[in-house]
Amino acid sequence: MTDAHPAPRRTAVVTGAARGIGAAIAARLALQGNDVAILDLPRSDASAVLARIEQAGGSARFFATDVTDEADVARAIDAVGATFDPPSILVNNAGITRDSLLFKMSLAEWESVIAVHLRGAFLMTRAVEAGMRAGGWGRIVNLSSTSAEGNRGQANYSAAKAGVVGFTRTVAAELGRYGVTCNAVAPGFIDTEMLRATADRLNVDFEVFSADATARIPLRTIGRPDDVAATVCFLAGDDAQYITGELIRVSGGFRG
Ligand SMILES: NC(=O)c1ccc[n+]([C@@H]2O[C@H](COP(=O)([O-])OP(=O)(O)OC[C@H]3O[C@@H](n4cnc5c(N)ncnc54)[C@H](O)[C@@H]3O)[C@@H](O)[C@H]2O)c1
Repeated sequence: MTDAHPAPRRTAVVTGAARGIGAAIAARLALQGNDVAILDLPRSDASAVLARIEQAGGSARFFATDVTDEADVARAIDAVGATFDPPSILVNNAGITRDSLLFKMSLAEWESVIAVHLRGAFLMTRAVEAGMRAGGWGRIVNLSSTSAEGNRGQANYSAAKAGVVGFTRTVAAELGRYGVTCNAVAPGFIDTEMLRATADRLNVDFEVFSADATARIPLRTIGRPDDVAATVCFLAGDDAQYITGELIRVSGGFRG
């Protein structure tokens, strides 16, 4: 058994962290003593999560970034490196939904969802992996979803989230020898604006939507962003050093 030591201060990059699950992950990583780079779209408002981290004495900065844009990603990682130490933790959390039944789904709806989840995770991971290899330590955690199992109205999102799992296992296989792990977390129903948008799209009151979802969840409750953040932070820490290429559901037992 190894002795428990306080973790060293590290630089963690969390995409899509202005709100929702990403904000909960950013806050938790900051409260663990890491310097946190909050990456999100220029129009997003990260003031609430930044204030929460600052009030708790943590360290975080916002970097406006579209993860689908190669030049933007390169600029952001340079700026993070100029502000903090090089990133050794990356959480690919940015996400969108453009739900529609297949026969109505436009090519733009297909491509935008694939781009944020897959192209985004690829560009971000490629931008930080050399630094992690050089440092001999790295943690990459990717957000998949129980929808990766297939979900009506989500051909684009299900394909993207299943793709995230293949990407995760490949990065794990390639980077393991350098002390870099890569794992995926699959949330089920988590109370965020994304979930509320799903209810809106279905034209269902959120309370009705939640009650219906809850009946399908063994633990009989919708999850909180912090439930996901706790698992992500475990995988991003020293205690998860012998876990790589795994997919962990955080779904109250809901399997998709
Ligand atoms: N909420 C759920 O029930 C649920 C379930 C399974 C998986 N997930 C996944 O968890 C992650 C977080 O979801 P959430 O519920 O917090 O969503 P959310 O919509 O509340 O937040 C997503 C964030 O990603 C940002 N983002 C979108 N496109 C971006 C881009 N191109 N570049 C940078 N940032 C971008 C948004 O601005 C937003 O701040 C997503 O990957 C999502 O697919 C969520």
